[in-house]
Amino acid sequence: MKKLVVLTGSGISAESGLKTFRDAGGLWENYDVMQVASIDGWHLDKELVLRFYNERRAQLENAVPNAGHSGLVELEEFFDVHIITQNVDNLHEKAGSKNIIHLHGELTKVRSIGDDSLIYDIGYKSIVLGDTCEKGYQLRPHIVWFGEPVPAMEEAAQIASKADIFAVIGTSLIVYPAAGLINYIPQGVPIFLIDPNPVNSPMHRKIEYIKEKAGRGVGILKEKLLVKK
Ligand code: OAD
Repeated sequence: MKKLVVLTGSGISAESGLKTFRDAGGLWENYDVMQVASIDGWHLDKELVLRFYNERRAQLENAVPNAGHSGLVELEEFFDVHIITQNVDNLHEKAGSKNIIHLHGELTKVRSIGDDSLIYDIGYKSIVLGDTCEKGYQLRPHIVWFGEPVPAMEEAAQIASKADIFAVIGTSLIVYPAAGLINYIPQGVPIFLIDPNPVNSPMHRKIEYIKEKAGRGVGILKEKLLVKK
């Protein structure tokens, strides 16, 4: 089976009612990214940061995967599909995808600030100041913030470097190192990009642009890939 590697961003979850970050009406219009999504912001105001992620978690509880997520599951019948997502939601999991790497962490998990190895699945519950790990350290969202390393990047780069086909769905490709994954795709590998809006792509490569929302776009991708198969 050919290896189909898919890099997803917040756009794939937009049709499930979750906001993207940089579109009009996106999350970074109402919040200062550096206050709620950076390690410095966490040190400045932990309560604000916890509240921001508590809200995101509560919203996620009622979100369901859309045709974009489920279309990627259907592709597993024909391809060895690997999803590398920048999303912290769990909609790829809820849809049933098998291989998922979360580059930026996961909303439904928290971890100890004193011991990185203590990671807890809290589902959709809130955490507040004073909630601690078993060693007594404060719990924080299990999210990769600006100013922090991206531990899953090496594994993601390995997978990208073995792709036979690559697809990019619903990401502005602005945030690094995630956007740099493109550079690991071997020469000659077809690259598809699904996004209803123009993406200022850093790719110096030929790409096949499917100018659609993820739900419809993944259906078109499937048709194109199955014809070529
Ligand atoms: P952005 O908000 O930067 O980009 C969202 C992309 O999705 C844009 O290119 C939109 O055009 C596209 N889009 C909107 N609706 C869509 C739809 N229905 N179907 C397909 N595409 C659609 O979000 P990301 O690229 O995901 O990191 O942002 C990357 C990272 O920046 C996030 O993981 C987050 C953020 O700061 C952290 O917080 C660490």
